[in-house]
Amino acid sequence: MPEAIWNEDVSPIVFKKISPRCGVEILDFDLSIELSQDLVDKIEHLLVNAGVVFFRDQHITREQHIQFGQRFGELHVHPAVPSPEGYPEILLIHADAKSKGVAGAGWHSDVSSDAEPPAASILYMKIMPEVGGDTLFSNMYAAFEALSQPMQEYLLQLKAVHAPAKIYSSLIQSEKVASRNQASTHPVIRTHPISKRKALFVNSIFTREIVGLSKKENDYLLRFLFEHINDPNFQIRFSWQPGSIAFWDNRCVQHFPTDDFFPQTRTAERVTICGDKPY
Ligand code: SIN
Repeated sequence: MPEAIWNEDVSPIVFKKISPRCGVEILDFDLSIELSQDLVDKIEHLLVNAGVVFFRDQHITREQHIQFGQRFGELHVHPAVPSPEGYPEILLIHADAKSKGVAGAGWHSDVSSDAEPPAASILYMKIMPEVGGDTLFSNMYAAFEALSQPMQEYLLQLKAVHAPAKIYSSLIQSEKVASRNQASTHPVIRTHPISKRKALFVNSIFTREIVGLSKKENDYLLRFLFEHINDPNFQIRFSWQPGSIAFWDNRCVQHFPTDDFFPQTRTAERVTICGDKPY
């Protein structure tokens, strides 16, 4: 059932929830037009509460994609993955018959190895395989809230080391990039800077170890947390079409692109919004 948020002065945003815990789709919306601050605030409100916001049937240029991202903050340039010529803020996500696999196929939040990991990412789908290539999203507020109180209290004391994915090392092109391609330590449970809600912040691609635990304790606890993130009750699965956009909040959701469409082609472009130091 579609719902709406509005005030008297501007058009409402009409959206429908994808599940009670994760994701909303904004309906009948055109991202190629200049957005009022009021609309930007409403989109941000949906983003930080639902974790991911979807739009369908969009037709935007690279410039418009960049401008939309800039309404939510400074844009992030990926420490290792090259961009299309002239567009350093755009990250190309492409897989085809020559690819060894899909980038980031595993639960993660983007570049959590950065000292100030990206706040949010906006992926614009361009080419989709005939079948396959969905992306799953899992809500990390829900993952935290489903834990028992003693477990929540224990995890609130812990920090974890996040290191760049191994594949990045082979892509390092400059000293500037190399200096950003290092590990960072973040709280296992972070507080979202806007919603103030607590969210689980470890992931299977970047998190290497929990500080102070033995190897055996790390193996058990991280395995438990990675299995917990995988609980279908926190998740949704998004089926893309060319023109679909997913705008996710890395501070409170993780995502998992499926790797089920080889040898077909799937191409998307992402802009990524800078974040702050997790606390
Ligand atoms: C990403 O991690 O940005 C890629 C997500 C996807 O390909 O669905």
